[in-house]
Amino acid sequence: MRQGTCNLTGWKVTGIILATLIAVVSYLVPDSRLADHHAAIMLGSFLTVLLLCAWLLKDLTGVVQDQKDQMERLMGTNLALTSLIDLKDHYTEGHSRNVRDLARGFAAYLTVPPRQVEQISLAAQLHDIGKIGIPDAILAKPSRLTDEEYAEIKKHPDLGADAIQHIPDYEDIVRIIRHHHERFDGRGYPEGLAGTEIPTGSRLISLADTYDALIHGRAYRQAMSTMDAIREMQAERGGQFDPDMFDHFIRFLSTGANTHSCDDPVCGMPVAGADPELSVSYNHRNYFFCSRTCLVEFTRHPDKYSDSS
Ligand SMILES: [Fe+2]
Ligand SMILES: [Fe+2]
Repeated sequence: MRQGTCNLTGWKVTGIILATLIAVVSYLVPDSRLADHHAAIMLGSFLTVLLLCAWLLKDLTGVVQDQKDQMERLMGTNLALTSLIDLKDHYTEGHSRNVRDLARGFAAYLTVPPRQVEQISLAAQLHDIGKIGIPDAILAKPSRLTDEEYAEIKKHPDLGADAIQHIPDYEDIVRIIRHHHERFDGRGYPEGLAGTEIPTGSRLISLADTYDALIHGRAYRQAMSTMDAIREMQAERGGQFDPDMFDHFIRFLSTGANTHSCDDPVCGMPVAGADPELSVSYNHRNYFFCSRTCLVEFTRHPDKYSDSS
């Protein structure tokens, strides 16, 4: 279906170029064989260009809508998978979403290219999906794990990566998930990668993952304050964490950029350094959006933002 549309679009672009050439030639070469029908040819050519431009625009609008629909379906699938992880492990309920928001905001703060931000966001949301394959008794154990139990837990990056490896275009996401428990000093798992051998997304998610785990309670320990969490993580600068990335992460946390989510209910992504120009007052409330796309969405569907929602 997509292939057919692309071929049609290519044909229309060729048509526009040919019709434009005929119009220009008929205008510039009055003594050519075209001169007899000079005005008619010019008018016909320009009308053809206009018609083809309109068709082309319609095609492109369809492509953009298809991509948007595909992204929404993908997000829906990811949300469903994430809910399964949360159901499986009550102590980490919301962890996947928190890590996604934090990692996405941090990636945007680092001015990572938009496509990579999307990949990191999806990988962060699914990073612990392999825990579905770990026995409940181990995941929810309130006391210290035995060596055998810890060996089971350490399987979850590979289990998760293997589970989603056949989704088209997910190669980079699979790799990020597989290596989210590697350590910068090479003492992590599953492969003991070190330094920049570890994918950028994995090093980034490692920071967001650890920070979120520390500031929320677990079966085996109390939640920490944000300052205590940062102090604890500082001890792993250059050990578990990429030192440069760690420094940026602390600066990112201090900006407060991770404290607000986009008010488009379909989006909900973090607003990195909320731009005051994008704040909108509606029904006596202030709204913030992560992008102009979401702002436009707001202006088109204001009913989504009623006070009762
Ligand atoms: Fe994990
Ligand atoms: Fe995690």
